[in-house]
Amino acid sequence: MPSPRDASPRLQKALNDNLDAVNKTMSRLLPETELAEKKLFDAMRYAVLAGGKRLRPFMVIESSKLFNVDSVRARRVAAALEMVHCYSLIHDDLPAMDNSDKRRGKPTVHKKYDEATAILAGDALLTLAFEVLSDHDTHPDPHVRIELVRKLAIASGGHGMVGGQMLDLIGETEEFDLGTISRMQRMKTGKLFAFACEAGAILGKADEPHKKALCNYAYDLGLAFQVTDDVLDVEADPDVMGKPANQDEQAGKSTFVSTMGKEQAKMRAEMLSHQAIRHLHIFDSRGEMLKELALYVLERRA
Ligand code: IPE
Ligand code: IPE
Ligand code: MG
Ligand code: MG
Ligand code: MG
Repeated sequence: MPSPRDASPRLQKALNDNLDAVNKTMSRLLPETELAEKKLFDAMRYAVLAGGKRLRPFMVIESSKLFNVDSVRARRVAAALEMVHCYSLIHDDLPAMDNSDKRRGKPTVHKKYDEATAILAGDALLTLAFEVLSDHDTHPDPHVRIELVRKLAIASGGHGMVGGQMLDLIGETEEFDLGTISRMQRMKTGKLFAFACEAGAILGKADEPHKKALCNYAYDLGLAFQVTDDVLDVEADPDVMGKPANQDEQAGKSTFVSTMGKEQAKMRAEMLSHQAIRHLHIFDSRGEMLKELALYVLERRA
């Protein structure tokens, strides 16, 4: 199962503490059921509770701390975002997309259950995320709730993650230039990262400069993260990653690695991670954990 290994001891502890807290929240939001449609809920629980580094929830919780946001509210938003992420992974692994058999060290949802159940589990996780965000417990101020709903919808949809996934598939048959690859990766991964970091600022009713700084940090970090994911696809150990390797090349995908080579791609990721850190100066030493996260993203092997 992938875990946040290779992080600094301080970051490792913070990631693990956060992982436990978010798992508890997700399990509570998605209880087991004995209903006739139990299979759907079992598949949803399997997808969200089957491991994962929980980096996006970590960003929600760390950005919330910057504005002294109530931890229960932050965890609910973190869980909602992780549900969207897990849905995106279930669908990404389907035979019609990346056709992957393994995820987080376990059979993918369509392998464990079946394709139709995997599609439905993804659909239901996506909608549950918005149910959670729109609930009074997430924030008593309806303006805050609607901003969370709107921003997550934009980040996840056609101009965000889903649009990026479409470009990713088009990139299997068309050759993209670097500009298009960057745009695709920012949509696929950067937009959900940006929501993760902005969420703390929304919950804490922060001013525009602080929101902007977090979004800029997250965009650069998201791109660095996805470039590293593309590098790991060609050089990491599939057992450590918990998912198959060499999938991008086999599918003929356009990635930073296919366009500029592995070494240049690593340098690009490093440059982006340091660029991300520079956006944090507005938070002084309070941004230390997010800074460590940006460095970890380069070192990770899973
Ligand atoms: C995998 O994301 C999909 C990409 C955006 C590259 P993660 O590497 O964060 O996956 P988990 O959540 O830890 O399994
Ligand atoms: C997936 O990117 C990004 C999503 C939006 C789900 P990849 O297809 O590269 O992710 P992995 O390598 O399967 O985790
Ligand atoms: Mg994919
Ligand atoms: Mg994939
Ligand atoms: Mg990948």
